[in-house]
Amino acid sequence: MKCILMNKYTEVLKAEYDSATSAFTKVYEVMNINYAPYILKNIYNQENINDDAFRTNLSEWFKGRGIPSWRDRLDLLLYRLNISAPYELLDKAFGLSLSDQYWLKPDGSNINYDDINFFDNDFDYAEFMEASLSVNSPKIYNENSLKTPNNTTDGMLKKAWVIEGETRYLIKGGYKNETLQPFNEVLASEICKRLGFNYVDYSLYTYKDMVVSKCPCFITKDTELVPCHQIISGRKRHNSSADYENYIKILEENGIENAREKLENMYILDFLILNDDRHLNNFGIIRDVNSLKWLDVAPIFDSGQSLNIEYYDEEEMHISGNGRLFYEVKPFDEIIKLVKNIKRIDITKLDGLVEWFDNLLHQYQNITNYSDARINKLCILLNSQINKLKDIIEKANR
Ligand SMILES: Nc1ncnc2c1ncn2[C@@H]1O[C@H](COP(=O)(O)OP(=O)(O)OP(=O)(O)O)[C@@H](O)[C@H]1O
Ligand SMILES: [Mg+2]
Repeated sequence: MKCILMNKYTEVLKAEYDSATSAFTKVYEVMNINYAPYILKNIYNQENINDDAFRTNLSEWFKGRGIPSWRDRLDLLLYRLNISAPYELLDKAFGLSLSDQYWLKPDGSNINYDDINFFDNDFDYAEFMEASLSVNSPKIYNENSLKTPNNTTDGMLKKAWVIEGETRYLIKGGYKNETLQPFNEVLASEICKRLGFNYVDYSLYTYKDMVVSKCPCFITKDTELVPCHQIISGRKRHNSSADYENYIKILEENGIENAREKLENMYILDFLILNDDRHLNNFGIIRDVNSLKWLDVAPIFDSGQSLNIEYYDEEEMHISGNGRLFYEVKPFDEIIKLVKNIKRIDITKLDGLVEWFDNLLHQYQNITNYSDARINKLCILLNSQINKLKDIIEKANR
């Protein structure tokens, strides 16, 4: 199919797309490379890049919009959707997403972004939500249920976009039988709220006897999320502290205000909740898709993989003290040293937080079946990190 890669209303390039393999077989013409996904624009502008290499990267980027192969219970989801691979879904709704404004327009068609985007136009989400999150779900037979932004969600966890009123919300479950992620997301939101950080507000939602998290879409039809991975891809790697400094420099050069402080806030949160999953697609910046202006650091999202979730043991307290800093796994006690101005944090804002979390976990105990011992261990961990941060701030003040 001859088609045009669009960024909202702007034509980026004309190419031949093969649905059967979800690959681009030829690029005919590049109209507006600046409006291409950030990673592709950079690749295109590299010296020595030939047409084949660019085409391959274009295919990889587009395929990467689909549900990833590492999605929890992907086999079951595909069975329920009656498809054999996630990329088959990319054809169903022009490859549109709720995290950016790219789409594929069949060449010669007069389809208009305004009539198809999922920000303005409602979609049937109930069946996909059930297929994705529910333990027992029938197969999907309604073809409309496959015309949704759920075709283009990234990430490991089971999830679904839903609509309430005018707002699009992302619903996320836990990983396999683990159910702590939603609680960690809500804890992260509470910490950010108290400390005045810019964050995505997660709340708890009960779906068919499961506790899942729910957060509003932080992208509008004028913006896109550009993940850090895309921003630094292709640049020379150094040690993680240097990569971090370089990233701040790029953000500042592109006009983002207080970039350092905003990134510090994210690592302070990660320290407090021991988030070990701050990989390069779990933070980024927001760009205006009309002007291409870099607007801000993206609000903090995806903080669920925290409080030693992978290392829980009913008998013992296993603590992994490692977080992520760019391409390295590093102790939280090291990462927190990057924060240049820790004195600005008013730690008293976290007074009562542990009791608040303890209360929240107990409230849902009849659904989660967490033992008192587990809840106690989680609270001990949180308390210990708050106290550690208190000490660091006190030392800085001396
Ligand atoms: N509220 C939101 N608004 C817009 N886009 C979002 C929102 N939340 C998440 N996304 C997009 O969806 C992707 C997947 O979401 P998220 O990172 O929360 O899932 P995950 O399964 O926990 O990921 P991971 O594999 O990193 O654990 C994000 O990388 C981001 O691109
Ligand atoms: Mg993620």
